[in-house]
Amino acid sequence: MAKLRLERVTKIFDRNIHGAKDITFEAEDKEFVVLVGPSGCGKTTILRLIAGLEQPTSGNVYIDGECINDIPPRDRNVAMVFQNYALYPHMDVYENMAFGLKVRGYPAGEIEARVKNAAELLGLSKYLKRKPGQLSGGQRQRVALGRAIVREPRLFLFDEPLSNLDAKLRVQMRSELARLHKRLSATIIYVTHDQVEAMTLGQKIIVLKDGVIQQIADPLTLYQSPANKFVAGFIGSPPMNFIPGKIKEVDNLPVFVHPSLNLKLNRKFLRFINREVELGIRPDDFSRNHGLEIQMIVDVVEPMGNERYIYGHCGDIMLSARIQQDEHPESDKPFRLTIAPEKIYLFDAQTEKRL
Ligand SMILES: Nc1ncnc2c1ncn2[C@@H]1O[C@H](COP(=O)(O)OP(=O)(O)O)[C@@H](O)[C@H]1O
Ligand SMILES: [Mg+2]
Repeated sequence: MAKLRLERVTKIFDRNIHGAKDITFEAEDKEFVVLVGPSGCGKTTILRLIAGLEQPTSGNVYIDGECINDIPPRDRNVAMVFQNYALYPHMDVYENMAFGLKVRGYPAGEIEARVKNAAELLGLSKYLKRKPGQLSGGQRQRVALGRAIVREPRLFLFDEPLSNLDAKLRVQMRSELARLHKRLSATIIYVTHDQVEAMTLGQKIIVLKDGVIQQIADPLTLYQSPANKFVAGFIGSPPMNFIPGKIKEVDNLPVFVHPSLNLKLNRKFLRFINREVELGIRPDDFSRNHGLEIQMIVDVVEPMGNERYIYGHCGDIMLSARIQQDEHPESDKPFRLTIAPEKIYLFDAQTEKRL
C-alpha cells in the first residue's frame, strides 16, 4: 500500500476554467481520506490527476516519495471506481471481475484466486454466475468495487460510488465500505458531495470549494473548529444558523448587535470591537437551561422520532434549533432558547474566516 502526496497541484482547463487550485495534501499509508464539497468544486478533477487521466498544469503528484507526473495511468497501479460504473451486461459477475486481469495477461490460477477472494470479501460468492441484469443496485456496485479490488492496487480512488443508490442502501454500503477499508488495509481517496458520508467514513476530510481547499481535518475538528463560514455551513445538519451583525463594546464587554438581537459575548472577542461579523450557532447547541437568551417565534415543528427540530424566526433572523422531547413548542408562539457563550462562533463578514 502507499502514501500519496499532492504538492501545489493546479489544473486549468481550456477557457481558463480552474478545475483545481494549488492543491496540497497527504494521504498516509492505509488512511481513508475523503474529499468533500459541492458539485463542480474539483473533486473528480483531483482524482483524475492522481489516476493520471489528467495532467497537472503545475505541481506534482507523489506516491511513496516518487513523482508520478510522467508515469502513464496504466503503470500507476491505482484503481478508480467511478460514479457511473459500467458492468459488461453479457458477462457474469466472475467474468466482470476477472476481465481487467485477463486483459493484463495474468495466469488463470492467479485470476481465480483473486476473484474468489474479492467475492468473499464483498459477499458476492453466491452470485458469481449471475449477469449484472440479475443483480440489485447494491450488488452491482459491489461488483464494480470487486473489479478494483482484484487488481490489488496500491491506491483506491472512489468517485461518489454510492450516489446512484437509494438512501437506505447508501447507508448500508457506507458501513460496508468502512469495514472493507479495515480488511483491505488500503489507502483510499474517497470523493463525495455528501457531508454525512464524509463525516462517517473519513479519517481525514478535505473540504473543497471552487477548486480550493478550505480545510483539512478529522471529522470532530471540522465540526467543532471550522476554519471559515463555508466549512461551518457545509458540515452539520441542519446547517449552522448565521446572523449578520457588528461587535460593539458595552461596559467594557463585547456585545453582538443586530437590530432584532443583542448577545453578550465572551471576553476573548473584545479585540474584535467594531468588526462586522457573522455570528454562528449550531442548531444542536441550543439548550433551555443556562446561557444567553434568544426568543424565537416558532414557524414549524419537525418531529423526527428520536429528536425534534424547530424552525422559526427572531425579527428577520431565521433560526433552527434542536429541542428536547419534554419541550412543547407551538406554531406562531414564542419559544425561549438559550445558548452557552462558548458555543458561539464568529466569522469575519468580509473574509468569512473564523475569529
Ligand atoms: N474536461 C474539462 N474541460 C473543461 N472544464 C472542466 C473539465 N472537467 C471539469 N471541468 C470543470 O472543472 C470544475 C471542476 O469539475 P469537477 O472536478 O468535475 O467537479 P466535481 O467532481 O467536484 O463536481 C468545474 O467547473 C468543471 O466544469
Ligand atoms: Mg465529480
